[in-house]
Amino acid sequence: MSTQRHDTRLDRFVDSYADRTNGMRASAVRALFAVANRPEIVSLAGGMPNIKDLALDVIADNMARLIRDHGAQIMQYGSGQGELRIREKILDVMALEGITAHPDDIVITAGSQQGLDLVTRVFCDPGDVILAESPSYVGALGTFLSYQTEVVHVASDDEGIDPAALRDTIVRLKSEGKRVKFLYTIPNFSNPSGLTQSQARRREVVDVCNAGDVMVVEDNPYGLLTLEGEPQPAMRATDPDVIYLGSFSKIFAPGFRVGWVLAPHGVREKLVLAQESATLCPPVFSQFAIADYLEHYDWRGQIVTYRHMYRGRRDAMLEELSERMPHGVSWTHPAGGFFVWLTLPDGLDAQAMLPRGVNARVAYVPGAAFYADGQGSNNIRLSFCFPPADRIREGVQRLASVIEGELEVQEIFGTRTTRPSRLHGPSVSPDLAS
Ligand SMILES: Cc1ncc(COP(=O)(O)O)c(C=O)c1O
Repeated sequence: MSTQRHDTRLDRFVDSYADRTNGMRASAVRALFAVANRPEIVSLAGGMPNIKDLALDVIADNMARLIRDHGAQIMQYGSGQGELRIREKILDVMALEGITAHPDDIVITAGSQQGLDLVTRVFCDPGDVILAESPSYVGALGTFLSYQTEVVHVASDDEGIDPAALRDTIVRLKSEGKRVKFLYTIPNFSNPSGLTQSQARRREVVDVCNAGDVMVVEDNPYGLLTLEGEPQPAMRATDPDVIYLGSFSKIFAPGFRVGWVLAPHGVREKLVLAQESATLCPPVFSQFAIADYLEHYDWRGQIVTYRHMYRGRRDAMLEELSERMPHGVSWTHPAGGFFVWLTLPDGLDAQAMLPRGVNARVAYVPGAAFYADGQGSNNIRLSFCFPPADRIREGVQRLASVIEGELEVQEIFGTRTTRPSRLHGPSVSPDLAS
């Protein structure tokens, strides 16, 4: 493990930080994202949910009633595991994806991001290996690296993780004496690829992990945001040993910071201890607000509204990509979630191109952010969740022109575009992560 520090001598505490802070690196594209928030720029970068259409007046009335009737309780410290009232309601949410469980086996977290942190904390020592899809969620990679683990990407195709590659990777790592702790996977509408793992693949992947004594951590914030057909059964629906992460961020609103982990009994106990040492208890006020929302609001109807809105945006992006992108560019066709994953022709570098994109008033996330090992240089993550459809179309048009320009340069000079070395590693900047 590298002990070389990346900090600056201007910080007088530079020699005092724990080694693990070395894995916590700010993204060097952050500065560009600050620019990307300017109104003239179409940002296809951030994955913020579009919550503008929530019925705020109804929610405000419900909150006022909640505070009036239960204020003293909901502003008090609460249970380290989370409030029973919300844990019971979460069973209804998970039932939509075929999961049956007991409220005792749920731990409430500050978003599923904290779920990732707690799971890594209770399972991983420095040097342990975590397996992840290729590509994988940047916020998870940041958490894993902050615990000084080694992330190994497993080859994946349009149907998800390749089971044979998974088996070979587990065998190889074990023969090297490595401790492989878990496979981290986003089977539905993955961030960043937008792809969904087929049911057959899910079964195979779980079987390979079970045979290799590797746990499966299923992260599923987008599963209910299907844009075609009904939600798929979760991996956890078929195997109770799968550790399942859920979130209200995309099906309601991220600002409450409420997610959950569903885990086998022994794991759940450890997670509660970890939660208590991290926060004493997850935010009580937010939990009651969400439980109340689930009890008094048509939350299923709200999910249908979200699906309709995101479908319009996804369709706008896919149509515009088909019409505008130069030959040689390919992309995924997500059946849900927020993201499209673009592959540029060989030789183009998404990171090097980003300043030209911002100059052309469009922003995206370069693909390398979604790998812990430097892959992804010719990939781009595009988000269709936040800008309205007409802005998405404009953004794709601008991006297409930028790519055309890059291809022209490549043709004239016969060289690949270059980028400054090691601009960034995985980062947990919210601009990128969400
Ligand atoms: C795959 C994935 N997991 C986890 C998270 C974290 O979500 P939250 O902490 O808001 O629940 C995100 C956020 O975008 C995500 O895309």
